[in-house]
Amino acid sequence: MASPREYHNIALIGFMGAGKSTVGHLLAELLGFEFLDTDRVIEHRQNRKISEIFAQDGEARFRQLESDLCRELEAVPGRVIATGGGLAVDPANLASLKRHALVVCLWARPETLYERVRHQSHRPLLQNPDPLLRIRELLAARTPAYRQADLLVGVDFRSPLDTARHIAASFRRALPPMETRPEPGPARSSGP
Ligand code: S3P
Repeated sequence: MASPREYHNIALIGFMGAGKSTVGHLLAELLGFEFLDTDRVIEHRQNRKISEIFAQDGEARFRQLESDLCRELEAVPGRVIATGGGLAVDPANLASLKRHALVVCLWARPETLYERVRHQSHRPLLQNPDPLLRIRELLAARTPAYRQADLLVGVDFRSPLDTARHIAASFRRALPPMETRPEPGPARSSGP
C-alpha cells in the first residue's frame, strides 16, 4: 500500500486572476506560515518584471526559472506558496509540489477571471485583442492540470477570507498527527 503523503506547505495553483496571492496572504496569516509568491521571487532574483523576462528572453526561459524555483521549494516547510498560473501545468512541477504541499486550486469561471484582470496590463499572456477568448482557450487547455489539485475551491462566490478559512480547515484536517508536525512559526512575509 502506498504510504500517505505528508504536507508541510500549501501550494495555491490556478488561473491568473483567481486570487492566489490575496488568498495566500490571508491563509499564511491564519496558519502562522510564511507567504511566498513565485512570480515575486523570480522578479526579485532577476531584478526585472515578468513581462520583461518574457519580452527579452522568451516564455521558455521564464518557465525554466519557474521550474528551478519549484524544485527549491521542496526543502522548506511552513509556507503558503502562491504559484504563477502556468507553473502547475508542467507535470514535473505539479509532482514536485505534491511532494511537500497540499495542492489547492482556486477555480473561477472565465467571466470572473476576465473581470478581475481586465484593467491590469502586467500579464504578457493576456496582452491580446480578445482577452476573454484567450482566457477561455488557456483555461480549457489547463483544466486537466488544475483538476489534479488535492482540493478545488470555487471562488466565484466566495470572499478571499472565506476561501482562506476553508483551505486552512482542510489543511488542518489533512495534517499528520501532532507529534510529527513542524512547530508553526509567527506569520512572516517572504523574501526569496
Ligand atoms: C502566467 C501567470 C502569471 C505569471 C506569468 C504567466 C500564466 O502569474 O506567472 O505572467 O502562465 O498563467 P499569475 O497567475 O499570478 O498572474
